[in-house]
Amino acid sequence: MVSSRRSFSRFLAVGAGLTVVTACTPETPAAVSPSSASPAASSSPAVTASATPTPEPATAPPAPPEPAPSPSAALPRQFSLTDPSSPWLIVNKHRPLVPATYVPADLVVPAVAMTVSGEAALLNSTTAAAVEAMFAAAARDGVAMVLASGYRSYDTQVATYNGYVAARGQADADTASARPGYSEHQTGWAFDIADGGGVCGFQPCFADQPAAVWAKANGHRFGFVVRYPWMFHPITGYYYEPWHLRYIGVEAATDMANRGIFTLEEYFGVEAAPGYP
Ligand code: DAL
Ligand code: ZN
Repeated sequence: MVSSRRSFSRFLAVGAGLTVVTACTPETPAAVSPSSASPAASSSPAVTASATPTPEPATAPPAPPEPAPSPSAALPRQFSLTDPSSPWLIVNKHRPLVPATYVPADLVVPAVAMTVSGEAALLNSTTAAAVEAMFAAAARDGVAMVLASGYRSYDTQVATYNGYVAARGQADADTASARPGYSEHQTGWAFDIADGGGVCGFQPCFADQPAAVWAKANGHRFGFVVRYPWMFHPITGYYYEPWHLRYIGVEAATDMANRGIFTLEEYFGVEAAPGYP
């Protein structure tokens, strides 16, 4: 069941990618030839051998089409897409963290239920506050949510990624685990959730558990997006992770939800990152 779902999602993901590529290709305006644009051409006096040639009008070459502004440009506040301490940081297979060994300066333990301790219980202070608010709101709706993995240092990501490679081979590992220096978990802006009872933890069936359903529908109200949505692997580089949430701020997350935009790459107008260069 799992493998057939994965195959299906690969199929759909490829289709979705093609659609996006087509939709994002800027249209090149048709070149207008000066002769066809001149209504007087057919009534011009005959040119004699002694006539001084009229110089060509100095026409500038056609300007390349302006790239469309990214949807995020409409928001009143803008943040860096490259600074790891920015809520709009985009880290993916084309955009490593700089520096690779970045450590957030404000890691704290959020006051929420969790299945982890030590480093993995940490988040940056902004994300921690938003997590506390979101978990409390979910609880008020009768949905139990727990923190299942938070901050991961560069060294921890080395061990995590190597574990995936040893178990599944590098090609498959790269669809599920970021290489060291390429993980959102290293920024404190991202974390994984689990259901109160731990049902389907880190498995595709988690998508249907109450915690995942609630987070997908309500996360934006607290500044979160599901960073690796279903079918967007050609853009994000990772298969669906309904447990992995990323803080980008309430304004941007709500705008994405309202516009029906699912990936940070599309919303912030950066290239798709299906694989490492
Ligand atoms: N599972 C996500 C892609 C990470 O390793 O950061
Ligand atoms: Zn994660």
